[in-house]
Amino acid sequence: MIPPKTVRDILDAARIEEVVEDFVTLRKRGVNLIGLCPFHHEKTPSFNVNPARNIFKCFGCGKGGDAVTFLMELEGFTYPDALRWIARKYRIEVEEIQQSPEYIAEQQLAESLYIVNDFALQHFQDQLFETDEGKSVALSYFKKRGLREDTIRAFGLGYAPDQRDLLLQRAKTAGHNLELLKKNGLCSQDGTRDFFRGRVMFAIHNLSGKVAAFAGRTMSSDKTIPKYINSPETEIYVKNKTLYGAFQAKKAIRKQDECILVEGYMDVISLYQAGIENVVASSGTSLTEGQLQLIKRNTSNLKILYDGDPAGVKAALRGLDLALEQDLNVKIVLLPEGEDPDSYVQKIGSEAFEAYLSRESKDFILFKTALLLEETQGDPVRRAGLIKDIMGSIARIPDPIKRGTYLRECAALLEVSEQVLHEETNKLIVAALRKKADRDARQPGAASDSQAEMPPPDVPVPAWEPGIPVREKPVQRGDEFQERDLIRLLVQYGDQVLPEENVTVAELILADIEESLGDFDNPLYGRIARECHAHLVQQQPLSQAYFINHEQPEVRELAIDLLSSPWEYSPNWESKWNFPLQNQKMPDVNFDTDARKALSVFKIRKLNKLLDTNKARLKAAALQGDEKSERNLLQINMKIEQARNKIAKEAGIVLLPK
Ligand code: UTP
Ligand code: MN
Repeated sequence: MIPPKTVRDILDAARIEEVVEDFVTLRKRGVNLIGLCPFHHEKTPSFNVNPARNIFKCFGCGKGGDAVTFLMELEGFTYPDALRWIARKYRIEVEEIQQSPEYIAEQQLAESLYIVNDFALQHFQDQLFETDEGKSVALSYFKKRGLREDTIRAFGLGYAPDQRDLLLQRAKTAGHNLELLKKNGLCSQDGTRDFFRGRVMFAIHNLSGKVAAFAGRTMSSDKTIPKYINSPETEIYVKNKTLYGAFQAKKAIRKQDECILVEGYMDVISLYQAGIENVVASSGTSLTEGQLQLIKRNTSNLKILYDGDPAGVKAALRGLDLALEQDLNVKIVLLPEGEDPDSYVQKIGSEAFEAYLSRESKDFILFKTALLLEETQGDPVRRAGLIKDIMGSIARIPDPIKRGTYLRECAALLEVSEQVLHEETNKLIVAALRKKADRDARQPGAASDSQAEMPPPDVPVPAWEPGIPVREKPVQRGDEFQERDLIRLLVQYGDQVLPEENVTVAELILADIEESLGDFDNPLYGRIARECHAHLVQQQPLSQAYFINHEQPEVRELAIDLLSSPWEYSPNWESKWNFPLQNQKMPDVNFDTDARKALSVFKIRKLNKLLDTNKARLKAAALQGDEKSERNLLQINMKIEQARNKIAKEAGIVLLPK
């Protein structure tokens, strides 16, 4: 482990432009540097590096972060590995502090398992390329199936001859530990026989290219023996987090901003050889959450190729709601009857295959709707079930805008009103949120997988509230624009001291809205405001770095966004508040005035809301003839109006009649 002090040294030393320039050619534009984005394919540069803030942001694909995130995203590094990379670059000595004995033992075990697998790979490759039997039986088999030698090598293909213990004997002679071979599933548990015999071999790599496991395909046409057998799960091979081909496909997936998912080993290899490199396989099982996260880290676009009959495809579709939950855009392509991706690409060639994919790819939700619709024709009961089923899928989509689009299109397809569908999904969403809140309440602080790699914060931070996984989108509702302004001020200038009062911007803002902390329209902004407030109460500092390195990915993303994009004004700000829009970017020196103005606008909007509620009560009281309440409420109304007008006057804001 890297000691916290060294981590800080490394983070301090890392200059974003210097790190990025090792991968991307940058040129100067104003105070920033720009270049072609390494995360997506582009012809005109939209990849921005901001040396002053020490962050990067691509306005094309939206990726952004600091030097560490850059390396993690681009090179697939873990957090500590990214730090080590930077340390090497800046010649910072990393004296790794002692790990717990268990951790060391675990690392050593993993290392030795990889070593044994490497030995086995070498053995299988020797058998394939260097022996007469291998060449005549296995190499010719691969070639008959259309594979070139460079492909065979790139994917670590090999051959295990039909002999009792060839690998075992070799391994023993080379001094390998029998227990490790057993653990890796390379031999029987009694240590007398090889596990893979008479099979062509497929190495299964982890993301960094190490061999984690093997699969062996029989060469016999005997239907009674399993076609493929696989290594068992081990410390280095966790099936539900592994996608076959991910190591080879990683770069292409990022570049194409799309991941193609197929079923089989041969499908991946054939497509790759045909130049379609962004392909992975789920290896015959349905997609797991871990596999989806792996995809999501590289792209939001998933295209799934199916070669089954409609019934099989329908069953497969059920598993895909998980993908929607990850906010993946899912497309489906059905291959012609009797073809799998491997056979089809070999038959029609890569160009025709790619044309087929783009012609035949259908949006998952619309595909599912059409498919189910076909079979419930004229059966109103089943039709109702179908609508529920599809709304169940749509309700999983975190992005409300995307959801709305689907509801509109499905309403047309299903010939029901959009409103009904909206209500149906809203019910489902509320139910799901309740369930999640219950779960979170029962196990507070349970970290998800994706956070496991994140650095532990070096100061104790107030617990992050269990929240709703809502992604921030540029479209804002209600008071979100004003709320965003406040959060921007917190992120950008939170630690700046206002000379007049000798308090920081964060203190000024948070003290002033203490009583509104629970009333944010946007849940994420609200959570951030409350977290900052808790920080100040505990007298812990807030800085830009704190937000950029936040343990919650959505906070990091938001911080980068806020720090990278120019100051935004609500489109109706001017008309509503008579605010002269000074077509300016927010000047960094002007945070004092801006903080105060943003605060005033925020408070006025909250008071206006209060007025609305109060007015509704007043109406109710009047209807009931409850004069006492009516008088009371009128009083309150006046007080709120006075408070609001006072704030407006002080801030120089002209209130327009509603
Ligand atoms: P397929 O039966 O479609 O095989 O299984 P394939 O990939 O097309 O292989 P070829 O073309 O006959 O050589 C699809 C995937 O399901 C898993 C494997 O990952 C396979 O690639 N599978 C299949 C198994 O794990 N075990 C089996 O017995 C069969
Ligand atoms: Mn096949």
